[in-house]
Amino acid sequence: EACPRTELIAGSDVRQDVLDRFGERYGVAQAHRYIDYRALLATERPEIVSIATQPEQRAEIILDAVEAGVRALYVEKPLCASVNEAYRIRDAVRANSVALNMGTNRRWQPGFHAMRTAIDGGAIGTLRTLVVYAAGTLFNTTSHWFDATQYLASDAPPVWAHAWLPGSEHLVVDDTVTDEPNASGAYGTQTGVTVHFLRSPRPNDIEAIGDHGAITAWGAGTSFTMRARPASGGAWTEGEFPTYAHTSSTLHLIEDLVGALDRGDDVTAGGIDVAVTNTELIFGFIESFRANGSLLMMPPEGSTARFHRSGFKARTPTFAT
Ligand SMILES: NC(=O)c1ccc[n+]([C@@H]2O[C@H](COP(=O)([O-])OP(=O)(O)OC[C@H]3O[C@@H](n4cnc5c(N)ncnc54)[C@H](O)[C@@H]3O)[C@@H](O)[C@H]2O)c1
Repeated sequence: EACPRTELIAGSDVRQDVLDRFGERYGVAQAHRYIDYRALLATERPEIVSIATQPEQRAEIILDAVEAGVRALYVEKPLCASVNEAYRIRDAVRANSVALNMGTNRRWQPGFHAMRTAIDGGAIGTLRTLVVYAAGTLFNTTSHWFDATQYLASDAPPVWAHAWLPGSEHLVVDDTVTDEPNASGAYGTQTGVTVHFLRSPRPNDIEAIGDHGAITAWGAGTSFTMRARPASGGAWTEGEFPTYAHTSSTLHLIEDLVGALDRGDDVTAGGIDVAVTNTELIFGFIESFRANGSLLMMPPEGSTARFHRSGFKARTPTFAT
């Protein structure tokens, strides 16, 4: 679904074949395809840039885009490859009033918005616990669930974290995370919500549990169910989850950026601060593991770990016909 307020004017990829496939698919003429993204920034002077490389390349490209005068950034998750990179991005984005949203889509998905509205409206009583059942890796997938749980807990700052990396212990070599680890663990928010990450074959189900009810987002938000105690008291029974529109979260994310440019203000749903918190949670888990799974106070400001996969190769994209 295209955003009527945006126009795709140029693209860049270091691989010529991928760049050409991209250009042909999305109607970007040869003259506006760039191997060198810096040439794109200098020549095209885009207002909005989307950065969908792997996280190891992202910080440098974001900083160059900000330096080149870009007004808004749609960056893929995870934000970058270390806490220090996240802080450098935050400083640059703030100093230049650049709007930034990270592609953790549930934050812009109407079903999760309805879930948060129901929680905030007291449908399950005071929120106490969030549980994520998933089997994905820390950077690629858990970054989504850190953000979804941040969002459901009203973006209350995390105050502690503890974690372990089951079967992935060998991937942390001194300061380097050499490949995508599996992670289990928990973090707690300033508002007293505890968020548990349980490695499980359940496909990205997220449960919000309050004093007198629970809401479950099934399969990354494919559907939602609610159980709660009636106002009159008694046992928890099946409740009616509010209806919501099935519209594109990516479109809403982009509209949020466009709205920020229209108003000359910041985005309303995401923003740099939640993207930085997301990075702090990723590295909070890693630093807790490095400290033998002990409880770590957040944020992990002294974190020296960096994600760097030496043997990683970009996949060859496939296109739906
Ligand atoms: N939000 C979502 O649901 C979602 C879904 C899929 C992927 N992602 C994220 O998107 C990112 C990319 O994922 P992918 O599977 O497409 O990765 P990929 O490795 O297949 O693609 C990355 C592309 O970036 C290009 N690239 C690398 N350095 C570059 C540079 N300096 N200039 C220009 N191009 C450069 C590579 O050649 C490659 O084509 C990851 O961070 C991933 O987590 C998010």
